Amino acid sequence: MATSDALNVIFTRRSIRKFSSRPVEIQDQQRMLQAAFAAPSAENAQNKHIIIITERDSLDNLPALHPSAAPAREAPLAFLICCDTAATPQTAFWPQDCAAATQNVMLAARALGLGSLWCGIHPLESREQAFLSAFSLPGMVRPFSLILIGYPLQDFFEENHYDTHFIHVGSWDRRFEPSLFEGGHS
Ligand SMILES: Cc1cc2nc3c(=O)[nH]c(=O)nc-3n(C[C@H](O)[C@H](O)[C@H](O)COP(=O)(O)O)c2cc1C
Repeated sequence: MATSDALNVIFTRRSIRKFSSRPVEIQDQQRMLQAAFAAPSAENAQNKHIIIITERDSLDNLPALHPSAAPAREAPLAFLICCDTAATPQTAFWPQDCAAATQNVMLAARALGLGSLWCGIHPLESREQAFLSAFSLPGMVRPFSLILIGYPLQDFFEENHYDTHFIHVGSWDRRFEPSLFEGGHS
């Protein structure tokens, strides 16, 4: 993939909340799962588990578990990203590991022309409990995020959140000046 394609995927990924019911090809599901496991993880701990949700009844029940999951009634696919917090090696960074995996799935989805929505679960106890019980998660397995996935009925577009006000150089006291990058940077 050209650099410009990769950056285009990053910049035009949007949270999609309207989906067509068109099914997602198995090969595309597999690519997104592979993307999840390609994410960086602290100490290279491979403790993530993902539940693939395609059953219509199960998708239709997601809004009962999560306040933002109403679009699941149309979406053909969802992934529940979890971590087995009893597996070794285990680190305190498991939520970041799951966040990186969630983002990788969403970027892979965008690259495949699919839309996605990150529905946050961890660290809200009530949401975790709802998913623990609905999906019979065993022992120390913690649900982290729910990702709704499908062909979008909204356009992808670029939204510019880049604001130099939030950028500092070297230490907090020195504000970033766009002129610092003029003429290239090392
Ligand atoms: C940790 C996390 C949790 C989120 N949880 C929800 C959620 O529960 N419901 C929802 O509609 N969007 C959720 N989002 C999506 C954000 O609302 C969205 O990313 C933000 O509004 C920016 O829009 P964009 O994704 O199109 O750039 C979540 C995003 C993150 C990173």
